Amino acid sequence: MATHTIGIVVNGATGRIASTQHLANALAPIRDEGGLSAGADRIVPRPMLAGRNAEKLAEIGKRHNVEWATDLDAVLSDPAFPVFFDAAATQQREASLTRAIAAGKHIYSEKPVALSAERGFELLRAAQARGVKHGAVEDKLGLPGLQKLARVAASGALGRVVNFRLEFGWWVFDGTEVPCQRPSWNYRRSGGGGLILDMYPHWRYVIENTLGPMRRVSTAMSTATPERIDEAGARYSVDVEDNAATLIELQSGAIGTILSSWATRVRRDDLVTFQIDGTQGSALAGLHKCWTSTNAKTPRTAHFNIASDLNIDYRAHWDEVAEAGPFKNPYRIGWENFLRHVATGAPMQADLAAGIRDVQFAEACYRSMKEARWIDLAPHS
Ligand SMILES: NC(=O)c1ccc[n+]([C@@H]2O[C@H](COP(=O)([O-])OP(=O)(O)OC[C@H]3O[C@@H](n4cnc5c(N)ncnc54)[C@H](O)[C@@H]3O)[C@@H](O)[C@H]2O)c1
Repeated sequence: MATHTIGIVVNGATGRIASTQHLANALAPIRDEGGLSAGADRIVPRPMLAGRNAEKLAEIGKRHNVEWATDLDAVLSDPAFPVFFDAAATQQREASLTRAIAAGKHIYSEKPVALSAERGFELLRAAQARGVKHGAVEDKLGLPGLQKLARVAASGALGRVVNFRLEFGWWVFDGTEVPCQRPSWNYRRSGGGGLILDMYPHWRYVIENTLGPMRRVSTAMSTATPERIDEAGARYSVDVEDNAATLIELQSGAIGTILSSWATRVRRDDLVTFQIDGTQGSALAGLHKCWTSTNAKTPRTAHFNIASDLNIDYRAHWDEVAEAGPFKNPYRIGWENFLRHVATGAPMQADLAAGIRDVQFAEACYRSMKEARWIDLAPHS
């Protein structure tokens, strides 16, 4: 048995998502468990945290027993680290990935992989020309609820899918009464912010991987909270959307909606819910759980009663889908796929092209709003 240590530059390592999901819940545990199996061999990740704040990097590095550096050029030129992962703020992504590709690194990227599909394709061409491998974080596919939903949909048990509905969001405070719970760059165009650019990449791969390709989209969006208080306590104007509604037509002919908002108060089964209706049954997933209902269980609703509440518990006609196995962190699933792809050439479904399609979907929605019309999505390449 041979052990392959793969050095990984983790850029933006002090950020929320890099330090928690990618480092604490994925790379450090894989390393601490002695690495991943790849045939008869083991793959052991060796993270190198990169960022600008030495004090914070040192603290995170110590906590997880990993190296760190503030000189990105130095780590990019170090052959001991053949992989570059970017989880810094969205605005910097393209420049960082471009440098990493030029340095011959295999690249793995948080979403969105680029600020526009055109820029994404430039990165893809550069990666192909340089002969490096590439991957995009598409973590929501690994959520237990959405995994169960995808299995139910793939089983054919729902019959012909006619409808779907994805709802997401919660209230994000503006910072006056209660501190805002999201970074201020999320609410600034110059920071790569905006709910659609931030969240719709996820909805693209969730919907297409579960139900097949989209044909066209139509979107309305708004800015519900026009002013916020930033991390330094300063008031700023929000110049991006924080509220959006999208109609989608799939190539199968099924239609669906996405409602996403940072200005809604949750009264649904979970923070994200995805319901699919088919001719034989329906399924609804939250982050962890999934429920199904069949024609046999469906109440024969004929009318509503305007005089009195019928007191029907509509949730009683649904059965919970059983767990398929122990929970595995979705970000870890992504890393395991990518590390095997780098080390053994195993296929990588969530590659840069998939990440670009995620951005194309967000772009189509922005364009639909701007031009007040349906926008066709390019067929899958
Ligand atoms: N997959 C997901 O579900 C998911 C969830 C959250 C965030 N993200 C993505 O991850 C990225 C980071 O988001 P976050 O919530 O962790 O944000 P964050 O603000 O917590 O972290 C951003 C990090 O980037 C660093 N940074 C900012 N400017 C930089 C620069 N010029 N050079 C180097 N580093 C710089 C910051 O210091 C910070 O460490 C975003 O692109 C976001 O879209 C993905």
